[in-house]
Amino acid sequence: MSSQSVDREDVSDDDRFPIHSKSSLAFHFMSSFGHFFEPSVPFEDLIFESKPNNLQPDNLPHDTRLSDFSEILRARKSTRTFGKIPLTLHELLDILWCADGITHDSPIGICRTTPSAGGLFPVSSLILCQEVENLPLAAFIYEPSTSQLFEKKEIILPSDLSVLFRTQHIDYSSTSAIIMWIGEILKICPKYGDRGYRYMLLETGHIAQNACLAATKLDIPHVVIGGFDDELCASTFQLNFPWECVIYAMVLGKKIER
Ligand SMILES: Cc1cc2nc3c(=O)[nH]c(=O)nc-3n(C[C@H](O)[C@H](O)[C@H](O)COP(=O)(O)O)c2cc1C
Repeated sequence: MSSQSVDREDVSDDDRFPIHSKSSLAFHFMSSFGHFFEPSVPFEDLIFESKPNNLQPDNLPHDTRLSDFSEILRARKSTRTFGKIPLTLHELLDILWCADGITHDSPIGICRTTPSAGGLFPVSSLILCQEVENLPLAAFIYEPSTSQLFEKKEIILPSDLSVLFRTQHIDYSSTSAIIMWIGEILKICPKYGDRGYRYMLLETGHIAQNACLAATKLDIPHVVIGGFDDELCASTFQLNFPWECVIYAMVLGKKIER
Protein backbone atom coordinates (compact mmCIF):
# COMPACT_ATOMS: atom_id res chain seq x y z
CA MET A 1 0.00 0.00 0.00
CA SER A 2 1.43 3.38 -0.92
CA SER A 3 1.40 6.30 1.47
CA GLN A 4 -0.80 8.20 -1.03
CA SER A 5 -3.71 5.89 -0.27
CA VAL A 6 -3.82 7.34 3.24
CA ASP A 7 -5.77 10.36 2.04
CA ARG A 8 -8.22 8.64 -0.31
CA GLU A 9 -11.79 8.99 0.84
CA ASP A 10 -13.23 6.14 -1.25
CA VAL A 11 -11.24 3.55 0.71
CA SER A 12 -12.76 2.13 3.92
CA ASP A 13 -10.84 2.27 7.19
CA ASP A 14 -10.36 -1.52 7.19
CA ASP A 15 -8.96 -1.49 3.65
CA ARG A 16 -6.65 1.40 4.35
CA PHE A 17 -5.22 -0.26 7.38
CA PRO A 18 -2.77 -3.04 6.49
CA ILE A 19 -3.59 -6.25 8.28
CA HIS A 20 -0.19 -6.46 9.98
CA SER A 21 -0.77 -3.06 11.59
CA LYS A 22 -3.59 -4.42 13.67
CA SER A 23 -1.10 -5.25 16.40
CA SER A 24 -0.91 -1.47 16.93
CA LEU A 25 -4.52 -1.68 18.01
CA ALA A 26 -3.75 -4.72 20.16
CA PHE A 27 -1.05 -2.73 21.93
CA HIS A 28 -3.37 0.22 22.29
CA PHE A 29 -6.05 -1.85 23.95
CA MET A 30 -3.63 -3.77 26.15
CA SER A 31 -2.23 -0.49 27.46
CA SER A 32 -5.64 1.18 27.74
CA PHE A 33 -6.44 0.03 31.21
CA GLY A 34 -4.97 -2.31 33.78
CA HIS A 35 -4.65 -2.46 37.48
CA PHE A 36 -1.95 0.11 37.93
CA PHE A 37 -1.54 1.74 41.27
CA GLU A 38 -3.12 5.20 41.24
CA PRO A 39 -1.45 7.11 44.06
CA SER A 40 -3.40 9.35 46.34
CA VAL A 41 -2.28 12.59 47.97
CA PRO A 42 0.48 13.43 48.90
CA PHE A 43 1.45 12.49 45.38
CA GLU A 44 5.02 13.87 45.44
CA ASP A 45 6.05 11.49 48.24
CA LEU A 46 5.32 8.51 46.06
CA ILE A 47 6.97 9.33 42.79
CA PHE A 48 10.60 10.26 43.04
CA GLU A 49 13.33 7.68 43.08
CA SER A 50 15.83 8.06 45.91
CA LYS A 51 18.50 10.66 45.31
CA PRO A 52 22.00 9.41 44.45
CA ASN A 53 24.75 10.68 46.81
CA ASN A 54 26.78 12.26 44.01
CA LEU A 55 23.93 14.40 42.67
CA GLN A 56 25.17 17.72 41.27
CA PRO A 57 22.10 19.78 40.47
CA ASP A 58 24.13 22.80 39.37
CA ASN A 59 25.94 21.18 36.47
CA LEU A 60 24.90 23.73 33.84
CA PRO A 61 25.68 23.44 30.13
CA HIS A 62 29.17 24.70 29.25
CA ASP A 63 28.18 26.82 26.28
CA THR A 64 26.69 30.15 27.34
CA ARG A 65 24.55 30.17 24.21
CA LEU A 66 22.40 27.64 26.06
CA SER A 67 21.87 29.88 29.09
CA ASP A 68 18.33 31.02 28.28
CA PHE A 69 17.29 27.56 27.21
CA SER A 70 18.82 25.81 30.21
CA GLU A 71 17.06 28.29 32.48
CA ILE A 72 13.72 27.12 31.09
CA LEU A 73 14.72 23.47 31.42
CA ARG A 74 15.77 23.97 35.02
CA ALA A 75 12.52 25.72 35.87
CA ARG A 76 10.28 23.01 34.34
CA LYS A 77 8.34 21.04 36.88
CA SER A 78 4.91 19.45 37.19
CA THR A 79 2.47 21.46 39.30
CA ARG A 80 -0.78 20.11 40.67
CA THR A 81 -2.05 23.09 42.63
CA PHE A 82 -3.21 26.10 40.72
CA GLY A 83 -3.99 29.78 41.22
CA LYS A 84 -6.94 31.95 40.32
CA ILE A 85 -5.85 33.89 37.21
CA PRO A 86 -7.21 32.43 33.95
CA LEU A 87 -5.00 32.08 30.88
CA THR A 88 -5.35 34.63 28.15
CA LEU A 89 -6.16 33.47 24.63
CA HIS A 90 -2.72 34.64 23.53
CA GLU A 91 -1.01 32.53 26.18
CA LEU A 92 -2.98 29.47 25.13
CA LEU A 93 -2.26 30.03 21.42
CA ASP A 94 1.42 30.60 22.15
CA ILE A 95 1.68 27.30 24.02
CA LEU A 96 -0.11 25.52 21.18
CA TRP A 97 2.16 27.10 18.59
CA CYS A 98 5.25 26.09 20.53
CA ALA A 99 3.80 22.58 20.89
CA ASP A 100 3.50 21.87 17.17
CA GLY A 101 2.87 25.09 15.28
CA ILE A 102 4.04 25.76 11.76
CA THR A 103 7.45 27.38 11.47
CA HIS A 104 8.03 27.64 7.73
CA ASP A 105 7.27 26.25 4.32
CA SER A 106 10.06 24.25 2.72
CA PRO A 107 10.39 22.73 -0.78
CA ILE A 108 9.42 19.33 0.64
CA GLY A 109 6.56 20.44 2.84
CA ILE A 110 5.40 22.43 5.81
CA CYS A 111 7.74 22.39 8.81
CA ARG A 112 6.59 22.54 12.40
CA THR A 113 8.20 23.06 15.78
CA THR A 114 8.29 19.27 16.20
CA PRO A 115 9.63 16.55 13.92
CA SER A 116 7.18 14.06 12.45
CA ALA A 117 7.96 10.74 10.76
CA GLY A 118 7.45 11.22 7.03
CA GLY A 119 5.98 14.66 7.73
CA LEU A 120 2.59 13.04 8.28
CA PHE A 121 1.78 14.85 11.55
CA PRO A 122 -0.71 12.32 12.95
CA VAL A 123 -1.23 14.14 16.26
CA SER A 124 -3.64 17.03 16.77
CA SER A 125 -4.51 19.20 19.77
CA LEU A 126 -8.02 19.32 21.18
CA ILE A 127 -8.45 21.94 23.89
CA LEU A 128 -11.04 21.80 26.63
CA CYS A 129 -11.42 25.40 27.70
CA GLN A 130 -12.71 25.92 31.20
CA GLU A 131 -11.69 29.47 31.88
CA VAL A 132 -9.66 31.20 29.22
CA GLU A 133 -10.13 34.93 28.69
CA ASN A 134 -12.49 35.63 25.77
CA LEU A 135 -13.33 31.99 25.17
CA PRO A 136 -16.51 30.13 26.12
CA LEU A 137 -16.48 26.91 28.11
CA ALA A 138 -16.18 24.54 25.15
CA ALA A 139 -13.90 22.21 23.18
CA PHE A 140 -11.73 23.62 20.42
CA ILE A 141 -9.43 22.14 17.81
CA TYR A 142 -6.16 23.92 17.10
CA GLU A 143 -5.53 24.57 13.43
CA PRO A 144 -1.75 24.86 12.94
CA SER A 145 -1.99 26.38 9.45
CA THR A 146 -3.59 29.54 10.82
CA SER A 147 -2.74 29.16 14.52
CA GLN A 148 -6.42 29.55 15.36
CA LEU A 149 -8.91 27.69 17.49
CA PHE A 150 -12.13 26.31 16.07
CA GLU A 151 -14.97 25.45 18.37
CA LYS A 152 -16.18 21.84 18.16
CA LYS A 153 -19.83 22.54 18.89
CA GLU A 154 -20.75 18.86 18.63
CA ILE A 155 -18.65 18.06 21.72
CA ILE A 156 -20.63 18.39 24.93
CA LEU A 157 -18.20 18.63 27.81
CA PRO A 158 -19.16 16.97 31.09
CA SER A 159 -19.85 19.50 33.85
CA ASP A 160 -17.17 17.78 35.93
CA LEU A 161 -14.10 17.17 33.75
CA SER A 162 -12.56 14.88 36.35
CA VAL A 163 -14.79 12.04 35.10
CA LEU A 164 -12.54 11.83 32.03
CA PHE A 165 -9.47 11.08 34.12
CA ARG A 166 -8.18 8.17 36.13
CA THR A 167 -5.78 10.56 37.81
CA GLN A 168 -7.98 11.97 40.54
CA HIS A 169 -5.48 13.90 42.66
CA ILE A 170 -5.85 17.03 40.52
CA ASP A 171 -8.49 19.68 41.02
CA TYR A 172 -9.70 19.90 37.42
CA SER A 173 -12.21 22.60 38.36
CA SER A 174 -9.36 25.06 38.97
CA THR A 175 -7.72 24.50 35.59
CA SER A 176 -7.84 27.04 32.83
CA ALA A 177 -7.66 24.59 29.94
CA ILE A 178 -6.77 20.99 29.24
CA ILE A 179 -5.02 19.94 26.06
CA MET A 180 -5.82 16.45 24.79
CA TRP A 181 -3.43 15.18 22.13
CA ILE A 182 -5.24 12.95 19.69
CA GLY A 183 -3.42 10.46 17.50
CA GLU A 184 -4.76 9.35 14.16
CA ILE A 185 -3.55 5.81 13.54
CA LEU A 186 -4.77 5.88 9.94
CA LYS A 187 -2.55 8.82 9.16
CA ILE A 188 0.67 7.04 10.03
CA CYS A 189 0.26 3.25 10.12
CA PRO A 190 -0.62 2.80 6.44
CA LYS A 191 2.88 4.09 5.71
CA TYR A 192 4.87 2.68 8.61
CA GLY A 193 2.83 -0.34 9.63
CA ASP A 194 2.99 -1.24 13.30
CA ARG A 195 6.02 0.96 13.78
CA GLY A 196 3.74 3.89 13.01
CA TYR A 197 2.08 3.51 16.38
CA ARG A 198 5.45 3.82 18.08
CA TYR A 199 6.21 6.90 16.01
CA MET A 200 2.89 8.43 17.01
CA LEU A 201 3.71 8.04 20.70
CA LEU A 202 7.18 9.48 20.19
CA GLU A 203 5.79 12.45 18.29
CA THR A 204 3.32 13.17 21.04
CA GLY A 205 6.23 13.27 23.47
CA HIS A 206 7.99 15.86 21.31
CA ILE A 207 4.84 17.97 21.21
CA ALA A 208 4.12 17.71 24.92
CA GLN A 209 7.67 18.61 25.89
CA ASN A 210 7.53 21.75 23.76
CA ALA A 211 4.25 22.69 25.44
CA CYS A 212 5.73 22.08 28.90
CA LEU A 213 8.70 24.32 28.17
CA ALA A 214 6.49 27.07 26.75
CA ALA A 215 4.19 26.92 29.79
CA THR A 216 7.25 27.05 32.05
CA LYS A 217 8.56 30.16 30.32
CA LEU A 218 5.12 31.80 30.64
CA ASP A 219 4.91 30.86 34.32
CA ILE A 220 1.78 28.79 33.81
CA PRO A 221 1.39 25.87 36.23
CA HIS A 222 0.94 22.62 34.34
CA VAL A 223 1.18 18.86 34.46
CA VAL A 224 1.04 16.21 31.76
CA ILE A 225 -1.45 13.43 32.31
CA GLY A 226 -1.34 9.86 31.05
CA GLY A 227 -4.13 8.69 33.33
CA PHE A 228 -7.40 9.18 31.48
CA ASP A 229 -10.22 6.91 30.40
CA ASP A 230 -9.55 6.09 26.73
CA GLU A 231 -13.04 5.03 25.80
CA LEU A 232 -14.90 7.74 27.69
CA CYS A 233 -12.62 10.39 26.18
CA ALA A 234 -13.14 8.93 22.72
CA SER A 235 -16.92 8.94 23.04
CA THR A 236 -17.03 12.40 24.64
CA PHE A 237 -14.84 13.88 21.91
CA GLN A 238 -16.66 11.93 19.20
CA LEU A 239 -13.47 10.36 17.91
CA ASN A 240 -13.38 7.63 15.29
CA PHE A 241 -12.24 5.22 18.01
CA PRO A 242 -10.00 3.21 17.96
CA TRP A 243 -8.48 4.70 14.81
CA GLU A 244 -8.42 8.06 16.55
CA CYS A 245 -7.52 8.05 20.21
CA VAL A 246 -6.33 10.34 22.97
CA ILE A 247 -2.66 9.66 23.63
CA TYR A 248 -1.68 12.24 26.19
CA ALA A 249 -3.09 15.24 28.02
CA MET A 250 -1.80 18.38 29.66
CA VAL A 251 -3.52 20.36 32.34
CA LEU A 252 -2.93 24.11 32.22
CA GLY A 253 -3.79 25.50 35.61
CA LYS A 254 -4.89 29.01 36.40
CA LYS A 255 -1.92 31.24 37.08
CA ILE A 256 -0.75 31.77 40.61
CA GLU A 257 -0.90 35.33 41.94
CA ARG A 258 2.59 36.61 42.87
C1 LIG B 1 3.99 9.66 30.34
C2 LIG B 1 3.69 10.46 31.59
C3 LIG B 1 2.45 10.33 32.19
C4 LIG B 1 2.15 11.06 33.33
N1 LIG B 1 0.93 10.95 33.88
C5 LIG B 1 0.63 11.65 34.99
C6 LIG B 1 -0.66 11.53 35.58
O1 LIG B 1 -1.52 10.81 35.09
N2 LIG B 1 -0.90 12.25 36.71
C7 LIG B 1 0.03 13.07 37.26
O2 LIG B 1 -0.25 13.71 38.27
N3 LIG B 1 1.26 13.22 36.72
C8 LIG B 1 1.58 12.53 35.60
N4 LIG B 1 2.81 12.68 35.01
C9 LIG B 1 3.78 13.64 35.58
C10 LIG B 1 4.84 12.93 36.40
O3 LIG B 1 4.28 12.44 37.61
C11 LIG B 1 5.98 13.93 36.72
O4 LIG B 1 6.59 14.30 35.50
C12 LIG B 1 7.00 13.28 37.63
O5 LIG B 1 6.46 13.19 38.92
C13 LIG B 1 8.31 14.08 37.70
O6 LIG B 1 8.06 15.37 38.24
P1 LIG B 1 8.42 16.69 37.41
O7 LIG B 1 7.61 16.67 36.14
O8 LIG B 1 8.03 17.83 38.32
O9 LIG B 1 9.89 16.67 37.13
C14 LIG B 1 3.13 11.95 33.88
C15 LIG B 1 4.37 12.08 33.26
C16 LIG B 1 4.64 11.35 32.12
C17 LIG B 1 5.99 11.54 31.45
